[in-house]
Amino acid sequence: MISLKRRFSNLKEANLPNSKETAKKYGHKEIIKLFYNENKYLPSPKVRESIKINSPNIYPEYKEPMLIEKLSDVFQIDSSYFYFSNGSDAILDCIPTLFASKTNKNNIVLPELTFGRIETTALVNDIEVKKVQLDDGLINLDKMLEAIDSKTSIIYVVNPNMPTGKLNSHENIINFLENVPNNILVVIDEAYGEYAFGIKENYENNKEIIDKFDNVIITHTFSKLYALASFRVGYMISRPYIVNLFRKAYQYLPINKYSLQAALAAFSDKNYYDQIVKKNNEEKEKYYATFEELKIKYYKSFGNFVYLFVDDNKSFEEFLVSKYGVLIRSIRNNAIRITIGTPEENDIVIKALKEYYV
Ligand SMILES: Cc1ncc(COP(=O)(O)O)c(C=O)c1O
Repeated sequence: MISLKRRFSNLKEANLPNSKETAKKYGHKEIIKLFYNENKYLPSPKVRESIKINSPNIYPEYKEPMLIEKLSDVFQIDSSYFYFSNGSDAILDCIPTLFASKTNKNNIVLPELTFGRIETTALVNDIEVKKVQLDDGLINLDKMLEAIDSKTSIIYVVNPNMPTGKLNSHENIINFLENVPNNILVVIDEAYGEYAFGIKENYENNKEIIDKFDNVIITHTFSKLYALASFRVGYMISRPYIVNLFRKAYQYLPINKYSLQAALAAFSDKNYYDQIVKKNNEEKEKYYATFEELKIKYYKSFGNFVYLFVDDNKSFEEFLVSKYGVLIRSIRNNAIRITIGTPEENDIVIKALKEYYV
């Protein structure tokens, strides 16, 4: 039998920099963090007003009734279709354990470059992962279908994809779902869905998917557009038989009461967040104009980040952090991802890009 020490030796710890240590190392007062795809604007002012530290000695109510009713109302989907968790990470973490079996030699089909949680949990559970090549940054849904075999139990699609930012249209997704055998679970991770489609259209699309297909989980987060990353709230929409499986298998009360209050307040201020989607798009255009001017290859991104190609990621990263205190994310030797910051932060990066590429 393989030793306990060796069993998980292929797992890698996330290589995440610490802002304070980085500031100290490079002698900056502050670091501009464009690393995690957080929303660099503050959440709706209603969030601050909503948080009341009352009865901290009492558990939150089972099934998060207020938030679930609000979401049910906005999506026009029954409340039994929603499940919340401590960030959408926590839902993704459960999926391989619940829906794939090592004993049955199941595999999970996912894109070769995408968000890593499902792959990590698959590795922990010794479940095989089949990776599908991207088409110039886009998840090729036909190739994902071709990769399915008799042992496939889960397919994971991030839309828009992260880190590339490329989007499959709603029509493509529907067409794809129609072709996936019904005994395979499809997970559609829409952490950036509101940015890509706009809030209204995104949620209308979700309703159509959930009404049509009973083998789908759509995941969403309050960490991105809703600017509540520190509160850790994520949720999924799926058919009640799947939602109930999560309720039976995992924590009854996965989210603290104050996070639920914050999420409810944020979700009730659509106008505020429509404005953020708009500002995010305007700021992306500023980046694109700069990339064009400097002849830098990039992908048009549907998230709150941009993906670009550089000659040498390490030297560009070092230049940005040492001179300007900006932390970005290296993806590959020749590719990096930059989170869209505030206009002031983006101006600093744009200035740095122009200086680096003179
Ligand atoms: C594609 C994608 N899915 C899910 C998550 C997890 O978000 P959270 O756990 O904060 O809800 C992230 C975070 O960066 C992400 O990029």
